[in-house]
Amino acid sequence: MLKGKEIVLGVTGGIAVYKAVELLRLLVKAGADVHVVMTQSATEFVTPLTFQTLSKNPVHMELFNLISEERIGHISLAERADLFIVAPATANFIGKIACGLADDLLTTTVMATRAPVLIAPAMNVNMYHNPIYRENEERLKNHGYLFVPPVSGMLACGYEGEGKLQAPEAIFEEAVAALTVKSLAGERILVTAGPTLEEIDPVRYVSNHSSGKMGYALARQARLRGAEVTLVTGPTALAPPCGVNVVRVRSATEMRDAVFAALDETDIVIKAAAVADYRPKVRAGSKMKKIQESLTIELEKNPDILAELGAAKGGRLLVGFAAETQDLVRNATTKLNAKNLDLIVANDVSLEGAGFNVDTNIVKLLYRDGRVEELPMMGKEELAGVILERMELLRGKGTK
Ligand code: CTP
Repeated sequence: MLKGKEIVLGVTGGIAVYKAVELLRLLVKAGADVHVVMTQSATEFVTPLTFQTLSKNPVHMELFNLISEERIGHISLAERADLFIVAPATANFIGKIACGLADDLLTTTVMATRAPVLIAPAMNVNMYHNPIYRENEERLKNHGYLFVPPVSGMLACGYEGEGKLQAPEAIFEEAVAALTVKSLAGERILVTAGPTLEEIDPVRYVSNHSSGKMGYALARQARLRGAEVTLVTGPTALAPPCGVNVVRVRSATEMRDAVFAALDETDIVIKAAAVADYRPKVRAGSKMKKIQESLTIELEKNPDILAELGAAKGGRLLVGFAAETQDLVRNATTKLNAKNLDLIVANDVSLEGAGFNVDTNIVKLLYRDGRVEELPMMGKEELAGVILERMELLRGKGTK
């Protein structure tokens, strides 16, 4: 995901330095080439050796180090970087940058870069709310510096409150966002995901094997590309993507209501949810007892949300999924036409590496004009990116 990207990770002194180690690991795992710059006080908390071992690059600390200056001086670091991250960033570091001070290697390189700079502050709650700090942060934001706000919690100084460094995963996500071209800026995208769950009685239900992975990947990738995203999701075990407006539902009826409530503020709808086609006709008010030898539950049809959207779509783009086990193209084409879609992602769920509960998918994209685009097996995150690129093309924004 970050292959070919050069990132400078600045680490300033504070108890949260240990979290920067985890952040470094995530960045390296995603393929980035990371150069760590530590302040003197950061080295009091974690040794440079830890960062050096994980990054497989020398750690930079001193402004005038002749050996490292020759090989990779601070100006060269500043120029080569695609992104700067400073995590944890102390009030002192932020104050210096806000005043244009450059008195050590980190402040000097940050001042000298034209790459985006992402700052993750960590400090005492009173410092965080100090008007001088607030002014400094505002000033930097006005100059285009990006911030990952701290979270609330018990701080090392014993105080409870805002000031705790964000989780490494959240900082990583913002780093990916900072490096992603905002090709969907201005688009409002609604994604549905996961299964729906239709209750039989208070403890039992009818559902399906959908994990929600495809829909969550679409929501995440759309947000990374700058779209405003609403994710209407049935019950899943997944953590919702950062920066996405999440609406949790259970049944198909609830999903329909949530989708139509958001429709006015939506330009593109992507219906990746595996909506249960039927629900029990009667929901028992109390737990059903096993009195009978056999049991028949009568089911009635759920609303077809996508078909209803197709009838009400106006100028919106509408994308559906087709889960099939036979006659993939023919069945998917029928759905594309019947539900008035712009694109359908046709998915033979009987193939290995496709469909429910796996990380990959093998799909064909079917367009309104009859075109069929066959895609190789790929990860759901990557497929989400491809689907969104096709959205840009249909919007007349893309380049392919
Ligand atoms: N869908 C929906 N509401 C339903 C059923 C399906 O919105 N009640 C949407 C799904 O989110 C998906 C598309 O319709 O985008 C196709 O779903 P799929 O289960 O493949 O097809 P169905 O229309 O349900 O037809 P069938 O089950 O007969 O194949």
